[in-house]
Amino acid sequence: MNNRQIVLAARPTGFPCETDFELLETPTVEPADGQFLVKTSYLSVDPYMRGRMNDAPSYADPVAIGQVMVGACVGQIVQSRNARFPEGHYVSGMFGWQEYALSEGEGVRRLDPDAAPISTALHVLGMPGLTAYFGLLDIGQAEAGDTVVVSGAAGAVGSVVGQLAKLIGCRVVGVAGSDEKIRHIVTDLGYDAGFNYKTTDSYYAALKERCPNGIDVYFDNVGGPITDAVFPLLNQSAHVAICGQISQYNAVEVSQGPRLLWHLIVKRATVRGFLVLDFAEHYRKALSQLTRWYREGKLNCRERVTDGIENAPRAFIEMMQGANIGKQLVKI
Ligand SMILES: NC(=O)c1ccc[n+]([C@@H]2O[C@H](COP(=O)([O-])OP(=O)(O)OC[C@H]3O[C@@H](n4cnc5c(N)ncnc54)[C@H](OP(=O)(O)O)[C@@H]3O)[C@@H](O)[C@H]2O)c1
Repeated sequence: MNNRQIVLAARPTGFPCETDFELLETPTVEPADGQFLVKTSYLSVDPYMRGRMNDAPSYADPVAIGQVMVGACVGQIVQSRNARFPEGHYVSGMFGWQEYALSEGEGVRRLDPDAAPISTALHVLGMPGLTAYFGLLDIGQAEAGDTVVVSGAAGAVGSVVGQLAKLIGCRVVGVAGSDEKIRHIVTDLGYDAGFNYKTTDSYYAALKERCPNGIDVYFDNVGGPITDAVFPLLNQSAHVAICGQISQYNAVEVSQGPRLLWHLIVKRATVRGFLVLDFAEHYRKALSQLTRWYREGKLNCRERVTDGIENAPRAFIEMMQGANIGKQLVKI
C-alpha cells in the first residue's frame, strides 16, 4: 500500500498558495508492537494551520519544510498491534494530511459511529465545538438574556457558538462574509440577526441597529475592523472572548487599528484570549453535553466537503478565503 501525503514545501509570505504544498507518495509502514495503522476518512483543515506554516519567534510548533502538514483526522484502524485500539474501530487524532497514519494511541479518541457520523468529531463534537462551548460559557460567561455578538458566525466554531447562545436564552447577532451565510445563520441556526461585512459600510451602525440594548458578550473569531466596531457598543461588565484573529493571519505587516481600549475602562469590560487546550481536563463532560444536544437535534454544523488528499491545499486556501459554510473537511 502506498501512502499519499501533503508536505509543506515553502513558507508563504501573505496568503498561502497551492505551491506552498507538495504531494508525496511513500510506502505505508507496518505497525510495530503497541502501534496501529489508521486509514483516514476525513481530514480537517483549520485556520491555525496558517500559523504552523510560519517559522518566527512568535509562532509555536512550526511544521518543518518537507514535513507532513499537521491536522486532525477521523479514520478507521486497518492494522493493529495495540489491544486498546483493535482493527475496525473508528478513531480521531492528530494524524496529519495523509491517507494512512501510524499511531501509538497518544491523544487518540475512540469514536462510536452509531452515536453520530464520524465527521462530527472534527466539528460540532470535536475541537471547534469545544472551542465554542468553553469560549462562550467560561470565557464569555454568557447568560440568559445577554446580547451575544459572534464574528466568523457561519464557520465551524461560529456556527456552534450561535446555536449554544440561543440554547441558553441569549439574543444572538452574527457577522459573516456573504448573504448566503447570513441567511443560513438566521434561518437554519436560529441567530436573531446578522449582517454581511463585505457589503456593509458601517459595522458600527449595523451592530447598533441589531443590538439595541448593547453587547454583553463578544465572541471574536476574526479581529480587525469588525472587532473595532464592537468595543464602543459593549455594556457594563461585558466579556470579550478572543478566540481567533483570522483577519490578521496572512498580514505581512500588522495593521494598526483605532485605539479603542478606553471603552474597556468605562465599561469595566473583561477581554480574555484563550486556547481550547486550556480546558482539556473538562473535554469529556463538555463532549457528553454537546453530544446530547446533537442527538436531540438542537445542535449541528453544516459541512463543506472537498474530495481527495490531493485537493487538501485547495480546500485549506478556500476555507481561509471564506468558501465554507460550517466546517471545511477533506474526504479521503
Ligand atoms: N482559541 C482556540 O483555541 C481556537 C480553536 C479553534 C479555532 N480558533 C479560531 O477561531 C476562528 C474560526 O475558526 P474555524 O475553524 O471555525 O474557521 P471557519 O470560521 O470555519 O473558517 C474561517 C472563516 O474565516 C472567515 N474569514 C476569513 N478571512 C476573514 C477576514 N479577513 N475577516 C473576517 N472573516 C474572515 C471566513 O468566513 P467569512 O466568509 O465570514 O469571511 C472563513 O470561512 C479562527 O480565527 C481560528 O483561528 C481558535
